[in-house]
Amino acid sequence: VTAEKAGFDHFMLKEIHEQPRAYRDTMGSRISADGTQVTLNELTTLTPEAIREINRVHIVACGTAYHAGMVGKYIIEKMARIPVEIDVASEYRYRSPIITKDTLVIVVSQSGETADTLAALREAKRCGAHVLAITNVVGSSVAREADDMIVTLAGPEIAVASTKAYTSQLVAFYLFGLHLAQTLGTQTAAEIAETLAALKALPEQVEAILEQAEAIKGVAEEMAKHDNLFFIGRGLDYAVALEGSLKLKEISYIHSEAYAAGELKHGTLALIEEGVPVIALATQHELLEKTVSNIKEVKARGANVLGIAVEGELELQKSVDSTFVIPKTLDVLAPALSVVPLQLLSYYASLARGNDVDKPRNLAKSVTVE
Ligand code: G6P
Repeated sequence: VTAEKAGFDHFMLKEIHEQPRAYRDTMGSRISADGTQVTLNELTTLTPEAIREINRVHIVACGTAYHAGMVGKYIIEKMARIPVEIDVASEYRYRSPIITKDTLVIVVSQSGETADTLAALREAKRCGAHVLAITNVVGSSVAREADDMIVTLAGPEIAVASTKAYTSQLVAFYLFGLHLAQTLGTQTAAEIAETLAALKALPEQVEAILEQAEAIKGVAEEMAKHDNLFFIGRGLDYAVALEGSLKLKEISYIHSEAYAAGELKHGTLALIEEGVPVIALATQHELLEKTVSNIKEVKARGANVLGIAVEGELELQKSVDSTFVIPKTLDVLAPALSVVPLQLLSYYASLARGNDVDKPRNLAKSVTVE
C-alpha cells in the first residue's frame, strides 16, 4: 500500500504533490510549441462555426467540480465574452433552465459517473444543447454521452477529497477559454500568448508552494483547535474560498463558511469574535484595496487573519496576522496556485484531528445515486 502511495502517508498528500505533473500533462500537446496557440484537436462537433453560434453557456457539476466551474464561468466570460450561468447539477433540471440549440452546456465531473451530473447532461441534450464534458475518465458515462470532451490528465484520483482533479479542471477551463477567444477574436494574439506563457509557468510555481508545506502544517495544527472558521475573498478569490472551505469541512470536520468578502457585513460579521480564524484570499489586484478593507473589518472584531497573498504585496501583509505567499502570476490564473495551500491546510488539519484523511465519514468518492 505504501508503494501505491509513492512514499506519502496518504493518497491525498500524494495527489496534492502530483499537481505539477497533472498540470504539465493536461496542457501537454494542447499548447503549440511556439507558445502562441491552443489546439484542442479533440473537439469534433464543436467546430469554429458551431462555436460562433453559441450565445450562452451553462456550467453544471457537483461538489469540487462545481467549484472548478465557478472559476470556469469567470474565465469564459472574461476571455470569450459569452454569458455563463452555473448550477449545481441537483438543482439545474428542476429550475426549468432556458436551453436552446445555441446553448453550450459544460458538465464537469472527475469520475464522469455522478448521477445528478449525468441527469443534467441528459436533460441538456434532450433540449438540443451542445454538451461538452470536462472529465478525468475517458470511458465514463458522461464522456460517452457528451458531444465533445476535454479530458483532464490528472490520473486516477483515490482520495475522496478532490485535489489534482480540481486543478486539472481549472487548466481545462483555461485552455477552453483561450480556444474560444482565439476562435471568436475576443482576445489579441499577444494576450493569448501572455496567458499561455503564464500557464506554462504554473507547474514550477506549484512545486515552489509544495516546498513550503511545513509552514502550513503549523498553521493547520493551530486551526484544528477551532470549531468554526471563515474564508473570505472577492471575485476569483471567492470561488477558491468556497473550495477551500469545502475541503476543510470534508476531511477535518471543522465547520467553515466561505463568504464573498464584501457580503460579510450583511449578516455573517455577527459571528466574528475574538480569536476566530479567518483565511483571507487576496490575489486579485483590482480588488485588493477592497479586500484589505474587509480584512480590517474582521480584525477590528478580533479575528485572527491568515492572508493568502501574491509575492510582493506588502500592504496586504501588513493588514493580516500571518501570510502565505504564492508566486506571481496573472490574476486570472491565481486560483491554480492559491488553492494549493488550502488543500495542504485541510490535509494537516485533518491529520491533527486524527481523522481518516482519505476516507472521510459519510462521504463517497463518486455518488451514483440521486
Ligand atoms: C462526490 C465527491 C466529491 C466530488 C463530487 C463530484 O461528492 O466526494 O469530491 O467533487 O462527488 O464528483 P465528480 O466525479 O462528478 O467530479
